[in-house]
Amino acid sequence: MIELTINGKHIVAPEGSTILEAARLGGITIPTLCHLPGMHTNGSCRICVVEIEGQKKLMASCIVKAQNGMVVRTNSERVRNARKILYDLILSNHPKDCASCMRNQTCEFQKLGNTLDILETHFEGDVPHIRLDMSAGIARDSRKCILCRRCVTACVDMQGVAAIG
Ligand code: FES
Repeated sequence: MIELTINGKHIVAPEGSTILEAARLGGITIPTLCHLPGMHTNGSCRICVVEIEGQKKLMASCIVKAQNGMVVRTNSERVRNARKILYDLILSNHPKDCASCMRNQTCEFQKLGNTLDILETHFEGDVPHIRLDMSAGIARDSRKCILCRRCVTACVDMQGVAAIG
């Protein structure tokens, strides 16, 4: 077992746990987007960033392993600001049609925006002009893709199909 401090709380977690897993064990919530529990993690969204004492850069908590004696902050002003900018940048490349979207009010990305209090983007962004893809037997609107790769991971690792990329 390893022992670390997250937001001032002493946490004991199994060897090999990520910071995110250790935080969850201690009842501490870190927002995520691309993370799929129990599956491989690619760390593409960086929404789960945290501050680690002694490290200059913010680190993705779903990737970095927790270590003995680590001191982590998941909700400092620096972390909150970084998260907002990261979310805002993803939102800037997303269609602005939530009100008419079939996932309105059940959308994980939208819920995160509400949590972070970002309802509109501050960046120009670039929403791709791509038509609905029906080729893999599912309706796939790539304009709404936030590049989390969860669908790709699920298709490959859970279904064993690898029909989408
Ligand atoms: Fe950690 Fe996306 S949830 S990088």
